[in-house]
Amino acid sequence: MSQRIAVIAGDGIGPEVIAEAMLVLEQLRRERGLVIDVWELPLGAERYLRDGTTFPRELRDEVRATCSAVLLGAVGDPRVPSGEHAHDILMGMRLEWDLYANVRPIRALTDALVPLRGKSKADVNCVIYRENTEGQYVAAGHERGRDGPDEIAMSREVHTRRGVERLLRAAFEHARRHRMPLVMTDKSNAIPAQAIWRRVLAELKPEYPEIATEQLYVDALAARLIEAPERHGVIAASNLFGDILADLGAALAGGLGLAPSANLHPALPGHIGLFEPVHGSAPDIAGKGIANPLGAIRSLGMLLAHLGHGDAAERVERAATEVLERKRSTPDTGGTLGTAAAGAAFREILAGS
Ligand code: NAD
Ligand code: IPM
Ligand code: MN
Repeated sequence: MSQRIAVIAGDGIGPEVIAEAMLVLEQLRRERGLVIDVWELPLGAERYLRDGTTFPRELRDEVRATCSAVLLGAVGDPRVPSGEHAHDILMGMRLEWDLYANVRPIRALTDALVPLRGKSKADVNCVIYRENTEGQYVAAGHERGRDGPDEIAMSREVHTRRGVERLLRAAFEHARRHRMPLVMTDKSNAIPAQAIWRRVLAELKPEYPEIATEQLYVDALAARLIEAPERHGVIAASNLFGDILADLGAALAGGLGLAPSANLHPALPGHIGLFEPVHGSAPDIAGKGIANPLGAIRSLGMLLAHLGHGDAAERVERAATEVLERKRSTPDTGGTLGTAAAGAAFREILAGS
């Protein structure tokens, strides 16, 4: 049976890295007989500046109805300071499709890319379960007296029992499947509302007696991730903390250019998923042809696993490891290749694997 995915290349380096991921998919389709139709959606800053289109609801509904997954490059463009199109595209999918778990693996593929003294790739292998629909990301910003001496900018954060519980459950289930410890992080010492995370964790814990579970304030966790990354398995966090820890984790595992992610609704198998590199549109290097395509390619790997092609996903991870070991990669990971050459090197190694 054929499967269908939608692809949004987006802004900045998005189209550069997605082009390489698409060539990888093409190769897997050819070699492995994967029957996956690709629907490319011309959305992003370019389109928004041309005709005001962000992500029309009818189109989003059609994607939801006809596709198993979406692969996204990145959105965000200095020419659109309001970020309106980026918000509608990214949050449109995360919120409207209720993709409450943002799964961001922190897995170092080679020793050389682990930046910590005395640590190797065996020490950096954990995963962030980031709550993806609530927290400080709910649209409730407010300001008063803009630019005046009494200006007040306000925002609120929202954590619902249902939202916290389903995210923690997904994190616990991952910990169970992979026999990992779980740490939940919050900042309830300064923001009392966040204590709901501690209470719900305590309620769920008896259901997972075999899992070593702890809670750590997010500032302490940030430090411990650097000092002892090997102590971590699953990290469950609210939306904002998960976002920050994901970039920190990407740096621990070799850099932002490598990190993949999935936005899922784990309680409903078969629900549409959104897959995207952790990095953004990187305007500082856009158009230079030096962006690392591996974050996008590994996100495609996660997408393939979601579609039931676990063997293809594993091959992608092995080939990514090999290109890095052989330094057939972009400058951010110690290589000298441009984006297209790094993509070609990846496909050559994939073909021989
Ligand atoms: P960024 O992730 O785009 O870039 C941070 C740094 O990492 C930059 O120095 C960049 O050059 C480098 N980098 C990122 N990806 C790389 C790659 N593949 N290869 C090599 N180097 C890479 O973060 P930012 O600069 O804070 O954000 C830029 C724009 O992207 C903003 O508009 C932001 O809102 C948006 N953004 C979008 C997403 C998304 O679409 N999911 C994610 C993060 C940021
Ligand atoms: C990410 C990004 C987004 C987020 C931005 C672009 C809104 O940083 O996907 O990590 O904060 O979720
Ligand atoms: Mn981020």
